[in-house]
Amino acid sequence: MLIAPSLLSCDFSRFRDEIIRVDEAGADYMHLDVMDGHFVPNLTFGAPVIKKLRNATEKPFDVHLMISEPHRYIGDFADAGADIISFHVECDSDVDSTLKLIEERGVKPALAIKPNTPPEAILPYLDRLYMALVMTVEPGFGGQSFMPDMMPKVEFLKNEIEKRGLSTLVEVDGGIAKDTIATAAKAGVDICVAGTAVFGEKDAKAAIDTLKALCE
Ligand code: DX5
Ligand code: ZN
Repeated sequence: MLIAPSLLSCDFSRFRDEIIRVDEAGADYMHLDVMDGHFVPNLTFGAPVIKKLRNATEKPFDVHLMISEPHRYIGDFADAGADIISFHVECDSDVDSTLKLIEERGVKPALAIKPNTPPEAILPYLDRLYMALVMTVEPGFGGQSFMPDMMPKVEFLKNEIEKRGLSTLVEVDGGIAKDTIATAAKAGVDICVAGTAVFGEKDAKAAIDTLKALCE
């Protein structure tokens, strides 16, 4: 299991140090939640902030766009150093051409689905995706409860990925903690985003080690 700490739960006044802290603690990816106050009822940060933080670590930047018109900003996030860009299938942009913009920039494309969206919405694009992101909370805020009823979506996608012989990874995001990560692992999840479960603990390394151990 790969762990991607969500920086949404970090101390933003020490953003760079927080990245370094979870890097040294064994984070696999840095999960960066971009919110526009429109697609979701919350605001965070954009490409200029990510660009300034890029050299804090060599770990991949997993940029999760919760914004209405992602196609307008793909170039900015690619320039900022995003390694993976995920955007929501429920957004206002054309999915196919937004994926093309990501592909043209040599960034790894990912598609995300909210809890009320069926996994079938991803199928037409699955072959092109580095990763499929199944939200296990309503996007917008950290610290919410994990929705175990999203696991059939993970199983459905994993099954389809295997059937097609793809190497697409499945990520879940929201409510991952000591008492929920085993459920995600059992469903076949490859990457778990964890905000509160990592930044809410004093010892980030112990937190990440424990989450990984609970998957075995
Ligand atoms: C929610 C974000 C998540 C969030 C997860 O919209 O996409 O990445 O930070 O936080 P936790 O792990 O606290 O649920
Ligand atoms: Zn996220």
